[in-house]
Amino acid sequence: MSDKVSRRQFAKIAGLSAAGMANPVGAVEVNPAPPPRTGTGFPAGFVWGTATSSYQVEGAVNEDGRGASIWDKFVRIPGKIEDGTTGDRANEHYHRYKEDIALIKELGCKAYRFSVAWPRVFPDGDGKPNPKGLDFYNRLVDELLKNGIEPWLTLYHWDLPQSLQDRFGGWRSTETCKIFGDYAAYVAEHLTDRVKNVFTLNESGRFVYFGYGIGIDAPGLTLPQAELNQIRHNSALAHGLAVQAVRAHGRHGTRVGPAENIDACAPAIDTPENVRAAEIALREMNGGYLNVIMTGQYTDAFLKFAGPNAPKYIDAELKIISSPVDFLGLNIYAPQNYVVASDQGAGFMPLPIPKSFPHMNSDWLRVGPETIYWVPKLAAKIWKTDAIYISENGTSGDDVVRPDGKIYDTDRIMYLRNYLAQLQRATSEGVPVRGYFLWSLMDNFEWVYGLNKRFGLYHVNFDTQVRTPKLSASFYRNVIATNAAGV
Ligand code: BG6
Repeated sequence: MSDKVSRRQFAKIAGLSAAGMANPVGAVEVNPAPPPRTGTGFPAGFVWGTATSSYQVEGAVNEDGRGASIWDKFVRIPGKIEDGTTGDRANEHYHRYKEDIALIKELGCKAYRFSVAWPRVFPDGDGKPNPKGLDFYNRLVDELLKNGIEPWLTLYHWDLPQSLQDRFGGWRSTETCKIFGDYAAYVAEHLTDRVKNVFTLNESGRFVYFGYGIGIDAPGLTLPQAELNQIRHNSALAHGLAVQAVRAHGRHGTRVGPAENIDACAPAIDTPENVRAAEIALREMNGGYLNVIMTGQYTDAFLKFAGPNAPKYIDAELKIISSPVDFLGLNIYAPQNYVVASDQGAGFMPLPIPKSFPHMNSDWLRVGPETIYWVPKLAAKIWKTDAIYISENGTSGDDVVRPDGKIYDTDRIMYLRNYLAQLQRATSEGVPVRGYFLWSLMDNFEWVYGLNKRFGLYHVNFDTQVRTPKLSASFYRNVIATNAAGV
């Protein structure tokens, strides 16, 4: 036997020969088979996780020296939170984290995405750190690792220290960006001996517009477009400073990237012209944040569209903003724009969404599973990244507890099954999606909806704090166990 032929190849050739399908001598010349790409599963090593964020689950807002965040103040403005609740108590995760980690383990997840509450670690945003605040994350990380679960840490999931809002106008000032860089350095220094993956800011695309543009999220401002573009630019700068801080102060090899609710564009119809149009649209519609992070430039079309409202900056800032990242985290829930090719403008036309377009329990959550196929595929092409993580995907449901005490959330299972099938379609074509974090581990404080919207795999009774697995928890456990979408 030629030494070019391994034992395994030989066995295969022999097998084929026995079946009368190949001449063993000729077959020696045949190229080795391509790596297995089964249409039936995700790649080996695919990271399965769930996600939460600090203000949405922790509670304990006045404990162990935590400072106030903009959300603590905002939730007290009458009428801002639909059901009048706050995150004061939320899931009491600050005290029940061990119980919650057991729930993650029960699903078979090997990864958990959580966020650090900046005002726990620096009660005023800057200045003296609060060791007791950091200790909570030490305990959390240790408990995760003890249970074989990788901690994926988010530095900012919207709970800005109120002090920075009062002193500098929050993200309106680059002062906040610099202080964020220092906070990121501190967290990296103290936690990346155990945390290997860090997300910078969660969803600039939401907190800038909702918080500073239409006043729906904290801090509840309604500023003009020019200021919004500046604030978005500042958030990109904060991201870049955090990337640099993690590199400079984190353990060597710590990976860092954004977690952005990308403006999700997909071709209305799968033709080469429309796919090309969707690619252009994805770049341009994300011109204010992701594209500048990934390329270091605002596109001509973005600057032309912004006109006199374009952000003001110096070139050195673009360099910081585009500090190389290790991965791209994409929160993908719903299609934002279905596009077709156009000979006008930049070459694409976003189509109006019909009123009858199907959505889930949340009005905004349109059902467009192919979005999670197209967006990573096009994003990987445009920004030449080889590591994409779906940092959030999931849905709300009405999640009624039946007389037998169970929650049969077949709507959530339908949603997940269809999205995961499309994600599997992407990975089986070689799109470099390396992992998926389901939002959310458990029902929690859903911002403006209060406790009214339930996104969890585990139902939470907010009076008793009892967690009960929904049927979707079994669905997800099966997905993880088989490493397949389970269509
Ligand atoms: C994402 C956020 O935008 O969507 C999460 O990162 C949030 O924090 C989730 O909980 C659902 O959003 P909403 O607005 O329906 O509560």
